Amino acid sequence: MGNSLEEVTKHYTGKRGFFKNLRTRMAWYLDRPLRNRRDLAYLLTLMHLDGKGVEIGVAKGEFSVVLLENSRLSILYSVDPWREYSEDQYDDLNNVAQQINEHRYRSVVEYFKKYGQRSQILRKTSREASRTIDDNSLDFVYIDANHSYKACKEDIELWWPKLKSGGLFAGHDYLDGHLPDGDFGVKSAVDEFVAKNHLRLYVIHQEWPSWYVIKH
Ligand SMILES: C[S@@+](CC[C@H](N)C(=O)[O-])C[C@H]1O[C@@H](n2cnc3c(N)ncnc32)[C@H](O)[C@@H]1O
Repeated sequence: MGNSLEEVTKHYTGKRGFFKNLRTRMAWYLDRPLRNRRDLAYLLTLMHLDGKGVEIGVAKGEFSVVLLENSRLSILYSVDPWREYSEDQYDDLNNVAQQINEHRYRSVVEYFKKYGQRSQILRKTSREASRTIDDNSLDFVYIDANHSYKACKEDIELWWPKLKSGGLFAGHDYLDGHLPDGDFGVKSAVDEFVAKNHLRLYVIHQEWPSWYVIKH
């Protein structure tokens, strides 16, 4: 599969969707973690989570496309400032030059027009965007922005109150350490949050693992 948003869309629709849906149902009924983060879109439908969702950290829009194509979310907010940071602030391969950020933003805006009002692109930081969303209003939150411990902890604190009871709270890159791709403290931030709130944590074991919890 290539990297263009057209190719991603083509790949994740069609017959394959039937099997992913089935796999998600099996995991759900057996109370096992999902096998692929893309199955989160099917899990939302299974849990009747068809309201508003948000992805924090969008980059080229690949995962927002997966969510829009495979879930029944009425609105997906795609939040990213598409701006270059200093390495001190954001040590990550996705901290790209401003010119590349502009290109990413423009191609997301153009491509997401096909989703009409279901797609709301918020060119804002996580903190700025959180101020525009009501508490207890979202069915789904997916955090995949700055992966440092401090930033991830802040994102969790900002977005947890936005989620409705019964909603799905999730994120990417459940890892710690200074990796070639950047600085990661997501695992520590998530583990602390889960322990403090007595939540059941599910981990999707992929090369870049995702995590999710359900808000009771
Ligand atoms: C790993 S990429 C996102 C990939 C995307 N979730 C996907 O799976 O297709 C991380 C993105 O987070 C964005 N980001 C960095 N700091 C942020 C912040 N404070 N608020 C929102 N997004 C941020 C970056 O601009 C970058 O595009």
